[in-house]
Order: sequence, then C-alpha cells, then structure tokens
Amino acid sequence: MAKDKVSIHGAWASRWVFILAATGSAVGLGNIWKFPYMTGVYGGGAFVAMYLLCIALVGLPIMLAETLIGRRGRQSPVNAMKALAVEAGASRHWSLAALIGMVAALLILSFYSVVAGWSLDYIVGMGRGAFGGITAEGAGAAFGGLTDDPWRLTLWHTLFMVLTAVVIGRGVVAGLERSLRIMMPLLFGLLVVLLGYSLTTGYFMQGFDFLFHFDPDKVRGGILAAMGHAFFTLSVGVGSIMVYGAYMPKNASIGGTVLAVGLLDTLVALTAGLALFPIVFAAGLEPGGGPGLMFVTLPIAFGNVAFGQAMGLVFFVLVAVAAWSSSISMLEPAVAYFVERTGRSRAQVTSVLALLCWLVGMGTVLSFNVGAEAKFFVFGDDGFHLFQWGAEGGRNFFDSVDYLTSRILLPLGGLAFVLFAGWVLGREAVRDELSMRYPRLFTLVFWLIRIVAPLGVLIVFVAELTK
Ligand code: PFF
Repeated sequence: MAKDKVSIHGAWASRWVFILAATGSAVGLGNIWKFPYMTGVYGGGAFVAMYLLCIALVGLPIMLAETLIGRRGRQSPVNAMKALAVEAGASRHWSLAALIGMVAALLILSFYSVVAGWSLDYIVGMGRGAFGGITAEGAGAAFGGLTDDPWRLTLWHTLFMVLTAVVIGRGVVAGLERSLRIMMPLLFGLLVVLLGYSLTTGYFMQGFDFLFHFDPDKVRGGILAAMGHAFFTLSVGVGSIMVYGAYMPKNASIGGTVLAVGLLDTLVALTAGLALFPIVFAAGLEPGGGPGLMFVTLPIAFGNVAFGQAMGLVFFVLVAVAAWSSSISMLEPAVAYFVERTGRSRAQVTSVLALLCWLVGMGTVLSFNVGAEAKFFVFGDDGFHLFQWGAEGGRNFFDSVDYLTSRILLPLGGLAFVLFAGWVLGREAVRDELSMRYPRLFTLVFWLIRIVAPLGVLIVFVAELTK
C-alpha cells in the first residue's frame, strides 16, 4: 500500500516531531506580527471570532488534506501528487498545483527573510539599549532609518537566508528535527515570559477586553482579511505541511495531530495578542497602528515601561526564532523536489535555491528605498502596464510578491489540495489514511474537506478578485 513507502529524505522520529515541525512552520511572523496588528486594525474581538471560524472550517480541513496527501505520497509535494493522481486514474497534471505552491513558498521566503531580518536588527537595537525613553517620532525615524538603508537590509536578509539554508542543508533529521527540538521550547518559553510580564503591567484586562470583546457591527469589515490570514498563519496552500506529512511515521493519527497543530498555532496568536496589547496600553498607545505595530509602536512601548528593553530583547528573539522555524518550511518542498529530480546532494540543491530566493528578496530590499518607484501591475488612465517607473498607482515589488502569493497563489493551492483529497483520492483513501475511530466524525471531517472548505476558499477568492 502507498502509505508503507518511506521518503528518501528521512522521517521524523515520532508524530511529536511532526507536531513540532508543523507548529514551527505555522507559528511565525503571521502570529506575532500580523495577527496582533490585524486585530488592532479590524477592531478586536469581531476579527478574532471570524478568524477562529475560518481556521476551523477552512484552514484545518486543508491542513488535514495536505498532511494525508504528503504521508500517502511519501515524496516531495510535486512527485507525491503526480504519483497519487496516476494511482487514482486521474490526470498527472494535478501535480501542477504542488509546483505552483512550491514556487509560491519560495516567493514568500524571499520577502519573509527581509522582514525577519528586521527583527535581527531590532535584537541588536534592544540589546544596545537604543530604545530607552524613545518618543513616537524617534521610533518612526529608527524604523525609517533601517528601511531606507539598502546595505543594512541586505546584511540582515543575507544572514537570515544563510540561517535558513544551514538548517535545510543538513537534512530532515540532523537539520530540521534537531533544531526544532531547541527552537520550539525556546519559543514557548519566551512567550510565557512575555505574557508573565504583561500580567504585571496593570493593563492586562484592558488588553483582554480588546481581544475578546465582540462587536457584531465590525464583523463584515474583517471577514475577508480573517480568511486570508487563516491560510497564511497555518502555512497551508503551498505544500509546506504536505512535505512535512511525507516524513510522518505511518502509524501516527493524522486527525489528532493536525488538530494539535491548529490549536497550538491559535494559542500562540492569542497569547501574543494577550502579551502585547497590555504593553501597548500601558505605554498609552493605540492598538490600531497597522503593520508598524511591531516595529514602531512596540519599541515605543518597550522603551517607556519598566524593564521594557529587556522584554523587548526577549520579544525580538522570539520573533526571529518563530520566523526561522517557518522559513525552513518554505524551502523544504523545493529542496526535496530537486533532490529527487536531479539526484544532486541536498547541500548543493539548498545552496542554489537559497541563492535564488536571496536574489528575488533583493527586489523587496530595494522596494523600501532606491527602488520604491518601480511599480508593477499598474492600471493607469492609458491602460494596464506590467511595469512602470514612478507610476501613481500599482504596487512596489514587495507588495506585488505579497499580493500575488497571499491573495492568489495560496488560496488556489489550498483549493487544489483540498479538492484533490476530497474528490480525486476519494472517500476510501482518505478513510484509510485518517483511520478515525468514530465513523460519524469521519463523515463530518470528510464533508468539511469535500464541500465546506472548497466553497469557503472559492467565496473568498472570488470576493478578493472582484473587490
Ligand atoms: N505560517 C507562517 C506564519 O504565520 O508566519 C507563514 C508561512 C510559513 C506561510 C510557511 C507559508 C509557508 F509555507
């Protein structure tokens, strides 16, 4: 049977390592940077409620689909889908979905590495005490000073990409498993320290209220954003979870494992919110500061509360570790694929792909400074231009890659994976792979995979494109 095959890349020691790895992938900048600021922008509890719903109805079924496809195929996502499609008598072109996902993951890595690099810069800044007593203008200028300087951005981007490549180059067990066993407990430990600190600020309940106060009027504004974020935060739609599934032991229960990953990811996002908002309120700041929350608002907060700088240091180490354990999962699908395809060593394949991502990432580095005027996808008065220098509208390089991946490629990938599991592999294969104890529960889960999740993705996708 297909699930008795083993991957040539190695296998996790147990299902716990899969949980570590998938949680490491899921928990990242999405939880600590994006989730709190989006909650701030979209008005607190209403956004949180929608987000939880999207995770449960769409995100988790897709994660389940990816894990079971990966474990059944036991190869890189592209080859796993190709083999399983042929086995099921369907077109081998289904593997195109995994190919597109693989490219999307590399594109995400290209800009993720730049943003993660900022957190490395802030570790140094907090460590030097550069934020002590800082004003709002000062913090804005500090962030601007970083993004205006292409050399400084390049330095951190390069360092972060090297860190990612080192782990992946060493392989599934010696690289991924070994480092995740250190990274993940560290991450949870740091988060608990930060939460403990926010409990002492005297503003904990204010933060709690902000996060959980449900205002029905605000639901509509944030629902699309909540759905998109559910994809990003769970790392679904690109094949990262699929490739980790390929390294999962064959007798591990997939359902419970995936649920654990989803719960841990949600727990970290909520804890990050609970830890950060009280600090923001304690410094007398507003939570709706948008993407700048982490790099501008928080340093002001950390710079002006007791022991804030030490906590700021803890915070940015946490961000860097979380980003690191996510970035490795973006590189793995492509590395596994090209090792299978070319027979070259993992180290060689990793070096080439990391270099490529680094190069594309340079586009993001430059889009904050000297290349800010390079605009793509411009809909001007004189028609559409793919590229125009200094155009009014359009998106800079970073925004274009972010938009292309998060809004288009991720939902498409997620849709294809969940359709593949629900309609191509079919009921018996999914039942065999999930081996659930309760038939009714299986029926519910299969229904989620087959109908609810695809419909959910479709609705959001069409709504986004026609916005
Ligand atoms: N889930 C990650 C986060 O929340 O930061 C982002 C991510 C990781 C997206 C891996 C895609 C991916 F393949």
